Amino acid sequence: MEREPRYRLAPSILSADFARLGEEVERVVAAGCDLIHFDVMDNHYVPNLTIGPMVCEAIRPRTTAPIDVHLMVKPVDALVPLFAKAGADLISFHPEASEHVDRTLSLIREHGCRAGLALNPATPLHHLDHVMDPLDLILVMSVNPGFGGQSFIPAALDKIAAIRRRIDRHAAETGRTIWLEVDGGIKPANIRAVADAGADTFVAGSAIFGAADADGGYRGVVGRMRAALADAGIEGRAA
Ligand code: DX5
Ligand code: ZN
Repeated sequence: MEREPRYRLAPSILSADFARLGEEVERVVAAGCDLIHFDVMDNHYVPNLTIGPMVCEAIRPRTTAPIDVHLMVKPVDALVPLFAKAGADLISFHPEASEHVDRTLSLIREHGCRAGLALNPATPLHHLDHVMDPLDLILVMSVNPGFGGQSFIPAALDKIAAIRRRIDRHAAETGRTIWLEVDGGIKPANIRAVADAGADTFVAGSAIFGAADADGGYRGVVGRMRAALADAGIEGRAA
């Protein structure tokens, strides 16, 4: 059986050059990234407006990397089938944005995608209490959602550690792994601390797309992130 990578890098295309989005996707994957993080904002749940299923469908043929859709929208359910059809592999949403969180998680899985819950900096962990079974991914926001380029909120580290304990307990009981993804303000200088707290999947927008190499590639910054992760010694992570 193929072993999953220990850590995953998920560049957020929110900070990419939208005038050449297909090439940007190809470049971050060529630089060694694992997922394409796709931020969907609706000017209602968050104060910004971005991209929808048509753009997801347009980039789908440009890579085989999984597309990790982060819905910052309210309501959620109507968009799930549209993103599944557009080629999404993972779909996360915020519990405050759905009237029936368990139903929305099931809906995502029924459409063949992996299901995630995204927790804002002030969202309490009790939202996870009764939904560990239908969850494939927990997305911890380390900034308030709505914009790229914000600073990492240090209080996220304790929250990540608490969720890591829940995930490990759940894995011991069920044998099932839930990904722990962190989103917002991640850079080569702090990615190691986020890994040490227990994350296995790292979103980075401005840090990656703001740092093109002379040839327009992103290998330099991705290499620095991988190097910072290389000696983060946590046994059994993301196995
Ligand atoms: C914020 C988005 C993030 C953001 C990350 O609402 O969900 O994915 O684009 O960007 P950086 O890495 O620049 O904080
Ligand atoms: Zn995001």
